[in-house]
Amino acid sequence: MNRGKFIAFEGGDGSGKSTILEMIYDYLVSNGVKCIKTREPGGIKISEDIRSIILDTKNTEMDRKTEALLYAAARRQHLVEKVIPELNKGTIVLCDRFIYSSLAYQGYARGIDIEEISQINKFAVGEYMPDLNVLFDVSPEVGLSRINKNKDREVNRLDLEKIDFHKKVMEGYYKLVEENNDKFAIINAEKSIDEVFNEVKEIIINFIK
Ligand code: TMP
Repeated sequence: MNRGKFIAFEGGDGSGKSTILEMIYDYLVSNGVKCIKTREPGGIKISEDIRSIILDTKNTEMDRKTEALLYAAARRQHLVEKVIPELNKGTIVLCDRFIYSSLAYQGYARGIDIEEISQINKFAVGEYMPDLNVLFDVSPEVGLSRINKNKDREVNRLDLEKIDFHKKVMEGYYKLVEENNDKFAIINAEKSIDEVFNEVKEIIINFIK
């Protein structure tokens, strides 16, 4: 059986990627595509438990390297327990964030050496990299104003960061795109939900055919 495709949705906070991921998942399933949706950090029990520790607003004392290691640990367990078995069954795996989130957030925004973040993540994922990363491009101002409007959304520890942090995240993503151009599709996510959905749908349909 052919290996499935591993597609990660990346972007800053409030970029709308999780909403669009749900819509793409529903679209693919209703068109008979074998597909799952999952997320990082999380997706399975152990990694969801790690997620609650990382994102707990009370954990203000968390060291940035501890945080980076916890993301990598959650990533490893989610990968071996869920993503790899599904890829081996030929499934399309839609994953809300993966390794480039750690490079952008822990590397470029928190300021840990990129090479070090890269190394702990290579240890965690081995040769399993996404086949495609869809980057949802929104300015931090737009992203944060969307988060503030959405009162139902959980407020997590990273939401408490100031706008400068979110600017560094996006600048980080742009650098990562420059260096790994062939692995990224970039979407202007400031457009309407319908427009963004249609663009992402076209990209993914072409990619999985
Ligand atoms: P989410 O809101 O997209 O579910 O992600 C939770 C937060 O975790 C978000 O602020 C981004 C952050 N994050 C990292 O800093 N590094 C990572 O490797 C991942 C997967 C998420």
